[in-house]
Amino acid sequence: MRISIFGAGYVGTVSSACLAALGHEVVAVDVSSDKIDLINQGRSPVVEDEIDSLVAQGVGRGKLTATMDVATAITRTEVSFISVGTPSAPDGRVSMKAVEEVVATIGRALRDKPGTHAIVMRSTVPPGTAETCTIPILERESGRKFGEGFTYYSNPEFLREGSSVKDFYAPPFTLIGAPIDDDAASDARHLCTPPGTCSRSAFPCRGKRQVFGECLSCRETCLCQRGRRHSRRARG
Ligand SMILES: NC(=O)c1ccc[n+]([C@@H]2O[C@H](COP(=O)([O-])OP(=O)(O)OC[C@H]3O[C@@H](n4cnc5c(N)ncnc54)[C@H](O)[C@@H]3O)[C@@H](O)[C@H]2O)c1
Repeated sequence: MRISIFGAGYVGTVSSACLAALGHEVVAVDVSSDKIDLINQGRSPVVEDEIDSLVAQGVGRGKLTATMDVATAITRTEVSFISVGTPSAPDGRVSMKAVEEVVATIGRALRDKPGTHAIVMRSTVPPGTAETCTIPILERESGRKFGEGFTYYSNPEFLREGSSVKDFYAPPFTLIGAPIDDDAASDARHLCTPPGTCSRSAFPCRGKRQVFGECLSCRETCLCQRGRRHSRRARG
């Protein structure tokens, strides 16, 4: 699969390098030219076990490239992961500035791209962000309708700095929020849950979106349909 990853910080760099190692073609995107230059030189912009060799191998095999050019990244890929920072704002709320900026630039790039495009939110964002913030921005900036010109999934990251590469391959949870009856959700689930990993989750659905987790080791799937609460609780 061809994937663009917006935000080359901890989450973005680890995801980029690990997905490239799994054979995907990955384009890392960031507003920092220093980070883009480092990746294109085969060097990691973050310090983490195993990440230096993974980035070097990904770049060396031509599976991982980096750019500041959003339009190119969108045109060359089918799926975009968003992993920009969401730091605490001075009033204690989550700052959504980078998220809002990045979905606006992705939306504008979608105007000129034929076909549909999948967007996966990996940053930590408040509940309801898809319905009240990111999907409306994407619709406004792209001129497309959610579900027609683009699809959107939530797949929050749970890695821990210090063991993030290991956590990528064996995440404590894999959560995916997707529209009800969205066939493409199985692609997102496949991509976000590497084979052989185990993730357990069960979350109530919210509005028109389903939230599910899957354990690929035991093949158990928790699928929550609209209006029903799943009996199990997420475990840490
Ligand atoms: N680091 C962790 O351990 C961890 C764990 C779980 C979840 N998260 C969440 O994942 C998200 C990313 O965290 P992180 O630690 O990787 O952040 P980070 O600060 O290390 O990296 C964020 C990157 O996004 C880039 N960026 C900002 N605006 C951009 C834009 N418009 N386009 C492209 N790139 C842009 C920044 O330049 C930076 O390189 C946050 O929401 C965080 O809460 C982080």
